[in-house]
Amino acid sequence: MSSTEPAREYDFVVVSNRLPVDRVVAPDGTESWAASPGGLVAALEPVMRAADGAWVGWGGQPDLGLTPFEADGIRMIPVDLTAVDVEYYYEGFSNDTLWPLYHDVISPPSFHREWWESYVDVNRRFARAAASVAAEGATVWVHDYQLQLVPKMLRESRPDLSIGFFNHIPFPPYGIFSQLPWRTQVVEGLLGADVIGFQRVADAGNFSRAVRRLTGHATKSPVIEVAEDDGRTRSVIVRPFPISIDTANFEALARKASVQARAKEIREGLGNPRTIMLGVDRLDYTKGIGHRLKAYGELLAEGALKVEDVTLVQVASPSRERVAAYMALRDEIELTVGRINGDLSTISHQAISYHHHGYPREEMAALYVAADVLLVTALRDGMNLVAKEYVASRFNEDGVLVLSEFAGASDELKKALRINPHDIDGLKARILDAVNMPYREQQSRMRSLRKRVAEFDVQRWSREFLEALAEATRTRRGTGADV
Ligand code: G6P
Repeated sequence: MSSTEPAREYDFVVVSNRLPVDRVVAPDGTESWAASPGGLVAALEPVMRAADGAWVGWGGQPDLGLTPFEADGIRMIPVDLTAVDVEYYYEGFSNDTLWPLYHDVISPPSFHREWWESYVDVNRRFARAAASVAAEGATVWVHDYQLQLVPKMLRESRPDLSIGFFNHIPFPPYGIFSQLPWRTQVVEGLLGADVIGFQRVADAGNFSRAVRRLTGHATKSPVIEVAEDDGRTRSVIVRPFPISIDTANFEALARKASVQARAKEIREGLGNPRTIMLGVDRLDYTKGIGHRLKAYGELLAEGALKVEDVTLVQVASPSRERVAAYMALRDEIELTVGRINGDLSTISHQAISYHHHGYPREEMAALYVAADVLLVTALRDGMNLVAKEYVASRFNEDGVLVLSEFAGASDELKKALRINPHDIDGLKARILDAVNMPYREQQSRMRSLRKRVAEFDVQRWSREFLEALAEATRTRRGTGADV
């Protein structure tokens, strides 16, 4: 779109740190945008089309200088970040302050005032971009921890809007959250929304407690009565809305003949082991990859598992590679993988097949189809959609999901083999149970898991959130609180 084109107004605006497309530059220099694999786009695409929607977000690289464009049938409204914004707002405050703080301080968070200032500044630019394209009375749905100040900023400039916020990651207990020097500003930023959604009941509870401690607003679950400066009160709904995947679509992918053939090829390529175990994670310290490797390595060393029978395929997709904690983690994991393979592999059988890559959806589906056991050992995880993708792919109703109780998914996937990743002996015992589980038990568990994931898919998630948002906004407008 040229900059002379008049600004459009949209009835539905999604705001997230990243646009749902990735920039691809061909060898000849031509640039295009490819849909990124996340489920959020799939969920919101129908709503976007029906409601005349736009998506506000960052193009993924500094200083792209983009103007609004269309990709995948969606109107994209880019927010430009400079190299300093990327360093302070994205790598710094978002991923070296908030991310470790919100994940139980597994890695120590860093607190820097310049990072906070950049966070405020970038949040303001996102809020301005959204405000400038939203039609009168539009619905604006803001996503995740990178943008927690946007709801309040938007409400100040556009009180006509219906504002929703969804936090994809955990919200920590007050004892941890209270370490944040800017804790009150963050809570007040979020309270600008009409509806604040969290993954788990516990996250919503943690947030409500933080509100009580820091603001004194009355809370009576699921409502927080925000006392405004003019003496009026405004109700904010705070509730869990556990996110999911596009289940039908994922299953259809897993059923494709090409994916089935690829799954066979993967198994053969690994030397036809009796059991393929799989781990799929962003290379992040929250995922408990080291705990998983420790348990698996001990089982091999003790002879409880044999490399002739079992292979662990570990996909660790590159993530936030300029943040020091992620660099250290990569070194640690790759050292461990190298040691286990060096000590325990044979010429013909590898203990761990390790891949520091991201893969396209088709290849992921083939890996899920090939894997007899999926290991999810997160130390803390908002939801963990990998667990749900594995379940959706298992249309034969076999396969075993080993799932950390510290992942949001464990609230729903009750028939998984639940583990505490810190308990290495317990984890080892559950891995053996998974490897040796009789077919009938696999089936009865997997059937129940599949029922849950089929019923509660990402379409239902977005519908329920948007219905709650519409209802909350109707009530607010009806009472005339701030219209
Ligand atoms: C998590 C966050 C997302 C984020 C994704 C990838 O799932 O909840 O907001 O986009 O990780 O991280 P990145 O830093 O690459 O965007």
